[in-house]
Amino acid sequence: MPDINPSSPIGVFDSGVGGLTVVRALMERMPFEDIVYFGDTARVPYGIKSVETITHYTTQIAQFLLEKQVKLLVIGCNTMAAVAAQQVRDLSPTPVLDVIEAGAKAALAATRNYKIGVIGTPTTINSNAYTRAIHSGPGLPPVRLHAQACALFVPLVEEGWLDHPVTRLTAQEYLKPLLAEGIDSLVLGCTHYPLLKPLLHEVAGPGVALVDSADAIAEQTARLLSERDLVNPKRTPPRYDFFVTDVPLRFQTIGERFLGRALPHIHLVKW
Ligand code: DGL
Repeated sequence: MPDINPSSPIGVFDSGVGGLTVVRALMERMPFEDIVYFGDTARVPYGIKSVETITHYTTQIAQFLLEKQVKLLVIGCNTMAAVAAQQVRDLSPTPVLDVIEAGAKAALAATRNYKIGVIGTPTTINSNAYTRAIHSGPGLPPVRLHAQACALFVPLVEEGWLDHPVTRLTAQEYLKPLLAEGIDSLVLGCTHYPLLKPLLHEVAGPGVALVDSADAIAEQTARLLSERDLVNPKRTPPRYDFFVTDVPLRFQTIGERFLGRALPHIHLVKW
């Protein structure tokens, strides 16, 4: 590893605005870290694209953030992490964390009966990335993983239908087979799903723990920074920069809903 400057920002990226749920968790967990975010708003959604296309876009974005001298790369998008995490690790001289690895660890810590559910975009679920990432340790029962692609959740969240009868009905339909298997924990394997937490909690019931990979990766990031002496020594208000490839209508409203606060310093990247 080269010399990494602890005062450098953390780089976070996603296919669009969804990764702002990860940024929000990072801001709350590490209030003195600068963050550079990249959201590929011109090419979103990734969740229905091919592995080749997603890999090409993902490595392009990782290079962009590395040129900004980030001290750490956080793959905030489950779909990108599912198909291209290794390619990003291969090209990055700085550490790389991804939401799937973080979510998998958090699910193993949460489960009691080793029946875990995971929901995500069709590409994430078809990649079997969570199946590869979730293994119980020696002497523990094998994990029974039940996965469900939920293609309709991303548009419903972007529409702001967080507590809408249509979303409730859709969630009941998607979760039915997982609940029938007796899962006791459910991984929210997509950046958009943390916004559905209250509704999913009601539909899944109190016996199912919701595993938020945004919280999980914030925890993992804090641990890595402190283990490697990369915590920003400054105690001044941090700087947040947001790079996007398009500024669609409603970008500000959607972005602020994901971030839970005002969205400052938006820069348009023309590729
Ligand atoms: N960010 C994606 C994810 O976490 C969801 C949106 C998309 O399909 O691009 O899987």
